[in-house]
Amino acid sequence: MKTTSLPTWKELAKAYESFQTKTLKELFLSNPSRSNELTKEAAGIYIDFSRNLWDSSIIEKLIALAKEMKLEEKRDAMFSGEKINKTEDRAVLHVALRNRSNTPIYVDGKDVMPQINEVLDRLFRFTKSIHNGEWKGKTGKKLTTIVNIGIGGSDLGPHMVTYALQEYKQEGMECKFVSNVDPNHITMVLRECDPETTLFLIASKTFTTQETMANAAIAKTWLTAKLGSDAVSSHFVALSSNIEKACTFGITKENIFPFWNWVGGRYSLTSAIGLSILLYIGETNFKELLTGFHEMDQHFKTAPLEENLPVLLGLLGVWYNNFYQATSVAILPYDQHLAYFPAYLQQGDMESNGKSVTQEGEAIDYQTGPIIWGEPGTNGQHAFYQLIHQGTKMIPCDFIAFAKPCVPLEEQHAMLWANFIAQQEALAFGRNASYLQEKGVDPALIPYKTFSGNRPSTAILAKQLTPRSLGSLIALYEHKIFTQGIIWNVCSFDQWGVELGKELASKILPVLSSNVKELNNIEKSSATLINYFLTNQ
Ligand code: F6P
Repeated sequence: MKTTSLPTWKELAKAYESFQTKTLKELFLSNPSRSNELTKEAAGIYIDFSRNLWDSSIIEKLIALAKEMKLEEKRDAMFSGEKINKTEDRAVLHVALRNRSNTPIYVDGKDVMPQINEVLDRLFRFTKSIHNGEWKGKTGKKLTTIVNIGIGGSDLGPHMVTYALQEYKQEGMECKFVSNVDPNHITMVLRECDPETTLFLIASKTFTTQETMANAAIAKTWLTAKLGSDAVSSHFVALSSNIEKACTFGITKENIFPFWNWVGGRYSLTSAIGLSILLYIGETNFKELLTGFHEMDQHFKTAPLEENLPVLLGLLGVWYNNFYQATSVAILPYDQHLAYFPAYLQQGDMESNGKSVTQEGEAIDYQTGPIIWGEPGTNGQHAFYQLIHQGTKMIPCDFIAFAKPCVPLEEQHAMLWANFIAQQEALAFGRNASYLQEKGVDPALIPYKTFSGNRPSTAILAKQLTPRSLGSLIALYEHKIFTQGIIWNVCSFDQWGVELGKELASKILPVLSSNVKELNNIEKSSATLINYFLTNQ
């Protein structure tokens, strides 16, 4: 079923025809209570949607579309453990991982909560033993440096969260991440590690991912060369749903923390994949993170669509993506702690909704997932904001900020906030030529100094960056992605698009590494690159 052939879609297309000429200035002037009407709050997250090119009549139509696409029924199907990931025949239950109310959730007739709680308990016990020094390295020293080896969902989430929550770190703990197959990455990290105090977490759902397996093997060789082969059991643990493969790698069963095939990689940071986070911030803070996720999950599950933050954020994105034809969304956190948040969301969003066939396998002739990108403010202001303010493209922006700073530098935090507010004002209302004329600006420069305004932004706020507010913020985006996937009628939980490159790389690798000059099966264009590589060794 194509979304674009639905009556509610056609209604929206018609509404867009007349709405597209409206400006934010007019929208604010025509409705004095616009700010109030378009700000919503839930689970500690406050969103000001008012500087967006929509109003209650558009929202109503978008909600009608969501209802026609059966968003509520499909959301309920996810929460109740139905196999909504059709192409992989799997349930999608990251919400169960942080189900703090512990209500039963069934997959194939079996409640998954007992196994989740059991693994969580094991993770907590393990963390305690690392922190209190009961679990020691081979030479009897406390393990204080965590090296997470993983990629994609087995890296981006833990990396983003540990960086974001560094003010909450447990004393003495350090956390490092190796993801890239580029040998420089592991080399750079190992250079900074002491084998006697390093714990490696091999994080891979499948335990077959080339990059992770290669880096894990290097780490093992490095460790055993320094401490002997019997050091592996005290310095390596695995986080995986493939116990067999983790055992084959040489990790004993007691050192494997499992999760399940109904946890998608990019939704896995609250599974065993989050062990680096737990070790870094400790049990109490980790539980707070889970609670934040759970609060937003509950809100998404129960709030009416009109008040539902992830639903509204998702529908707003559809409005821009499909009617205004905006091709990207900028994620602009005004908090340096969230430096890795845009990269994390790139996988979350683009791997989920970067699809071009419907759930029924038909080719799609409308736009689906946008390009996600961004950098923390104010850095971005001095780099790419020029294009957002005066370029030819419409780029809806999510501005994220926290009222209270994590560090006691209030004056500088106010500077950050002044910029945060000013940028959204400038984007929305711009600066027109007549103002510049009045100010006596050189007429020749007026075209360059004019700001068209009418450029949309959403302010996403919380009181302070805490484990709990971060959990809610991440879940907000997860469910926004879900909402959009339903509207675009794509399967948001598979990622077949990453497979072809992997397959071809495995065909090319032997030619590069064994110097086999057999290029018959290789694409001509790739042969040029192979030749360049081989002749320049
Ligand atoms: O190649 C894409 C992908 O499958 C992601 O979806 C996943 O997060 C990542 O690779 C890592 O996979 P694994 O955890 O199985 O190593």
